Amino acid sequence: MKIAVISDLHANKDALDRVLEDINKYDPDKIFCLGDLILAGYDPNYVCQKIFELKDNFKDNFEIIQGNTDKMVACATIESIEKAKEMFPCMGYSLEQDIKITDKKYIEFVKNLPENKYVEINNLKIQLVHGSPRNQSENIYPELMCETVEKMVENSEAELILCGHTHKPCGYSLNSGKTVINAGSVGRSMTEDKNAVYLQLNIDENGSFDVEHRIIKYDNKMVFEKILERNFKHCEDLAKMYLA
Ligand SMILES: [Fe+2]
Repeated sequence: MKIAVISDLHANKDALDRVLEDINKYDPDKIFCLGDLILAGYDPNYVCQKIFELKDNFKDNFEIIQGNTDKMVACATIESIEKAKEMFPCMGYSLEQDIKITDKKYIEFVKNLPENKYVEINNLKIQLVHGSPRNQSENIYPELMCETVEKMVENSEAELILCGHTHKPCGYSLNSGKTVINAGSVGRSMTEDKNAVYLQLNIDENGSFDVEHRIIKYDNKMVFEKILERNFKHCEDLAKMYLA
């Protein structure tokens, strides 16, 4: 059973297109999407439309959960936008504009997604989460102590926990027997080279699995320019995040 796991697309059309080309070659049986479709890219409607197409094509073999920025956009209030501007100016001003440019049907879609989901494949129990099983915004990133990760997943009933959120791909094999894998980010990778990242997960008939993080190049310079064109306050701070 071949599964492509994508996360943190963040309205980045070019990165998603390049990743989908690679996914097509992999020819997966299922696709899992771990949230953060929108906020702070340059084409939220295109990215959501592509997700709708995947959902239509893969039907029951497509699983999706909500990310923290999906919730930020879907549940934004005047107060939450002002608070975001204070805490992280470029994200706050992007949020203010994203709410206006994202089609209402897509905002409604992400608003109603579940925060996590259990899936069982060949007797392997998998949990899909955005941050951690206990918190949609908790950070699982490289170089954490295994004991710390163990605490974060202690309430999960799954043997394999798939997460995103930090935009940093990593994996942990824990003493409890649980495996935790961060799929990385398609749309705003925080790796050194800033290339898009997604996960290929292969599960055999006994429930044993292997994984590979795929590193996919896209036109970061073009995306940098597209973010600048959005022309909201502090957009240059966001645009710089796409360059290595
Ligand atoms: Fe994200």
